[in-house]
Amino acid sequence: VGTLGEKDLSGKKVLLRADLNVPLDDGQRIADDNRIRASVPTINFLMGKGAKLILASHLGRPKGVTPKYSLKPLVPRLSELLGVDVVMANDCIGEEVEKLATALPDGGVLLLENVRFYKEEEKNDPEFAKKLASVADLYVNDAFGTAHRAHASTEGVTKYLRPAVAGFLMQKELDYLVGAVANPKKPFAAIVGGSKVSTKIGVIESLLSKVDILILGGGMIYTFYKAQGYAVGKSLVEEDKLELANSLTEMAKSKGVSLLLPTDIVVADNFAADAESKIVPASAIPDAWMGLDIGPDSIKKFSETLDTTKTVIWNGPMGVFEFEKFAAGTDAIAKKLADITAKGVTTIIGGGDSVAAVEKAGLASKMSHISTGGGASLELLEGKTLPGVLALDDA
Ligand code: 3PG
Repeated sequence: VGTLGEKDLSGKKVLLRADLNVPLDDGQRIADDNRIRASVPTINFLMGKGAKLILASHLGRPKGVTPKYSLKPLVPRLSELLGVDVVMANDCIGEEVEKLATALPDGGVLLLENVRFYKEEEKNDPEFAKKLASVADLYVNDAFGTAHRAHASTEGVTKYLRPAVAGFLMQKELDYLVGAVANPKKPFAAIVGGSKVSTKIGVIESLLSKVDILILGGGMIYTFYKAQGYAVGKSLVEEDKLELANSLTEMAKSKGVSLLLPTDIVVADNFAADAESKIVPASAIPDAWMGLDIGPDSIKKFSETLDTTKTVIWNGPMGVFEFEKFAAGTDAIAKKLADITAKGVTTIIGGGDSVAAVEKAGLASKMSHISTGGGASLELLEGKTLPGVLALDDA
């Protein structure tokens, strides 16, 4: 959008792909409006330039037209945030869309219906992409969260609509998740958690070539412990990933990365919010117990280490933070990151559950960057390129 700054956009129809895939509760109320708010700067900028905005997004994973996945419930919140009456279309292509777009005043906003109501969207069908493109004069993609999908509204459309440029949110996400990770202020630490090592192999391997310190937590650590011969009780272990865990440990050593695993564990007698719990050394989890969080000694050691860093990226919680009793480790990391951000450390929260944890702790505004993309940020951290980004003029 920066490159569009000099262009006269008044009266120009802009197709803006945003990721407005927000969670809706049973009453069709928006449960979390972060993605809508994150899209506002680009929308405001284009409105301010007098463009006619045609906003496209998916919501959920509908199979065909499904009222439950309509974007209509977003209209009041969008209108409120933008200070205009957002017009809603019943479709995302076709005559009605064309009419509504043409009738928009300069600075007006039209929200298209869910692009995934057409199977052609995910198939990246050229005819469908052409129809999407046909209503606008230029294309802006701000949908970072969907940039890992080569769909008609994120990739195909750019073949028929130019210029095609990145919005402010897309730019910011890339600045942090690519820029800050490629050229970090050092020491650079990554904290990787989450339940399974199998879903984080690519991220860990890729980060091992970049970081000075790798801190591991969450359910995946029990696979590392078992591989080292520790007693893990009933903890979650991926038996087929034991060798992999050892080779990641070796890889860290050979690259001179200091690898930190928790030294103590909060164990539970079953997987439940009200389970009995106690703290045990990481090397000696009793038979009938399972690890659900990192212990106080680990929190202390991790915190001391984080105090020495200049850049930190976090992906994946330290324990089962959905259960209050096992949220202390994840909460402590969130607080520590907020604390060091205030001291000038660059902190990047890379998508998914760790974002939810930071939000739950009320610390979202205290981090340098919180990603709006789960899958997309993971793929970037794995070192992959995103088709939705590659397709843009400014890629
Ligand atoms: C997300 O929520 O991660 C994005 O909106 C992409 O959605 P998808 O995984 O259904 O493609």
